[in-house]
Amino acid sequence: MKNTPVDYEVVSRKIRESGLKSVGKATIREIKKLVDLIEAETGDKFIRMEMGVPGLPPTQIGVEAEIEALKKGVAAIYPDIYGIPQLKPEIARFVKLFLDIDVNTEGCLPTVGSMQGGFAAFMTINRMNANREGTLFLDPGFPVHKMQIKILGQDYMSFDVYNYRGDKLREKLESFLKTEKVSSILYSNPNNPSWICFTKTELQIIGELATKYNVVVIEDLAYFGMDFRKDYSIPGQPPYQPTVAKYTDNWVLLISSSKVFSYAGQRIGMMVISDKIFNTKAPDLLRYYSSPYVGYALVFGSIYALSSGTSHSAQYALTAMLKAVNDGTINLTQPVKEYGKKARIMKKMFTDNGFSIVYDKDEDDLIADGFYFTFSYPGFTGEELLNEMVYYGISAISLAITGSERLEGIRACVSLVTREQFSDLEYRLKKFHEDHPL
Ligand SMILES: Cc1ncc(COP(=O)(O)O)c(C=O)c1O
Repeated sequence: MKNTPVDYEVVSRKIRESGLKSVGKATIREIKKLVDLIEAETGDKFIRMEMGVPGLPPTQIGVEAEIEALKKGVAAIYPDIYGIPQLKPEIARFVKLFLDIDVNTEGCLPTVGSMQGGFAAFMTINRMNANREGTLFLDPGFPVHKMQIKILGQDYMSFDVYNYRGDKLREKLESFLKTEKVSSILYSNPNNPSWICFTKTELQIIGELATKYNVVVIEDLAYFGMDFRKDYSIPGQPPYQPTVAKYTDNWVLLISSSKVFSYAGQRIGMMVISDKIFNTKAPDLLRYYSSPYVGYALVFGSIYALSSGTSHSAQYALTAMLKAVNDGTINLTQPVKEYGKKARIMKKMFTDNGFSIVYDKDEDDLIADGFYFTFSYPGFTGEELLNEMVYYGISAISLAITGSERLEGIRACVSLVTREQFSDLEYRLKKFHEDHPL
């Protein structure tokens, strides 16, 4: 019997009872369930880093606007599928003030989370050209996007950008685009799971090649403004959140309110389509839609068919939150900076105890401290490491499910770890290090 921070016998038994062959191969939800059961029996609280959920209260201005709207009776009324009239200009204003990009309000759409925005974008964009087969993912990435592609019966290609940063990205990207099978490119920036952020050089390469090969970039800004090395929170003032929209007209932006406004529960996000793409005529769309125009097909085809628009009251919440950050009444990123502060402390605890950060650089710069980080320990694959760390009361997910080629890596999410748990985390990492000397 080993002497581990969480009772060895209980952990082993719970793993056996769960029927999981390997904790390291389990899905996020399976790990969550296993850890819930171990916590319940041992009374020990885990350092829970498996789920990417907000750990902060929702933006209050949104909550109040939504309650107000509900009291006025909006629940009884179908909202316009392209968004309530107050919201659309507020989205366009946000895009101007925080990205320095001009867009017509008709391309500014609310969606049921940015998750639905992604689904609707794949559904429409990947059907613009009958000879093209789907999306190129710049991995590592969010596994649900690939699930969406599979559900739609579309194809995808992917590669891990780890070895193709900076100028090296051009040749690699071009090798895929030359096939002329790629309809769209998707990546998240900052990146879930690795928290790398593309540099201006890289965004410029992506943009230039998107124009050259007539491909649409679907840029997932789920963690808008959360690269805390720079302050992107002052409306109308540089620096702006970097975006590919500076370097091509072929873009669709997915902007989530889940993390930056801690508004995940109300499932509201934004899809913003460039004027060029919105007005593009793609006759192959007529195979699925009544109109060959991308914007029309997206709104009156995909979004209508998926959910007939987005929750009416949540649209009032989003309008109010956007207006507040656009007007400068509240600061966009101040509340979420806590994630970066916690990540800095936690990453040091890991590296002081023999662990390494897997994705550690953006070209020459150290990556930012934010919502996620990735780590490894010498001699372990990610799967083996996760299996072992459960006995130390630490849970996370393997990078293997994210398209990463760094099979030694694990993704840690800082949001649910409280500062009160830092001493436990430090003790457990020290004990792990002692028990697995290097
Ligand atoms: C990279 C990425 N894209 C999209 C989403 C989904 O965002 P939403 O809650 O707005 O649907 C998430 C959520 O974790 C994410 O990490």
